[in-house]
Amino acid sequence: MGKIVIAIDGYSGCGKSSTAKAVAKDLGFTYIDSGAMYRAATLHFLNSYLSPSNPQDVKKGLESMKITFLINPETGRQETYLNGLNVEDEIRTMAVSEKVSEIATVKEIRKELVAQQQRLGRSKGVVMDGRDIGSVVFPDAELKIFMTANLDTRSFRRQQELLEKGELVDLEMIKRNLAERDRIDSSRAESPLVKVADAVEIDTSNLTFEEQVAQIVHMAKEVIDNAKDHASNHR
Ligand code: CDP
Repeated sequence: MGKIVIAIDGYSGCGKSSTAKAVAKDLGFTYIDSGAMYRAATLHFLNSYLSPSNPQDVKKGLESMKITFLINPETGRQETYLNGLNVEDEIRTMAVSEKVSEIATVKEIRKELVAQQQRLGRSKGVVMDGRDIGSVVFPDAELKIFMTANLDTRSFRRQQELLEKGELVDLEMIKRNLAERDRIDSSRAESPLVKVADAVEIDTSNLTFEEQVAQIVHMAKEVIDNAKDHASNHR
């Protein structure tokens, strides 16, 4: 099958990551979770007592931070590593969620992570989710999706996810965190979350997980087929 880049952007907690993962699996593509990189950077700054508003600290933090993704051979699951440590679960905790959007406003941190994301997607055949994938990381992505869902649905789903990982969190607290991250992510100066003109909007509030995955896979296959037809017409 032809290889394309699929960019999935949208608000916090609307199911981008799990959808992107399933789309990648169906198409035999690689999934890259750009949010996990901002979360790992946040954990690094928190653990090292570095302040994202101090330029010296930002420099120090970036120099001492190495983020990688490795496949767990037992589960086949892709997991996030920070300086050699598996931080996949730790980066999903509320402590990190509370700080990540502040870290993600810092220009130098974004520059570093975007460069890494672009390297990871260079050979195409990738599905990447985040906030600026269709606008900044891969403005030429062949398929761009903008996912939304209402705040109540997103909060409920996120509470379930945290519960499955053993973290019991008040629904109101989750709601406040998602709304606050949406506010910071959409209003920041550096590559804010926007729906680009060529993105297809999918509201997942009333869709099942299977339906939202099927919709995107269908669109991706159309794009791939069209590219094939286009290439054979020009032969
Ligand atoms: O999974 P969830 O929707 O909670 O968020 P995430 O995708 O893990 O991203 C966490 C945070 O990282 C976001 O709220 C943004 O502040 C930041 N982020 C970003 O600025 N740019 C991206 N491409 C991805 C995430």
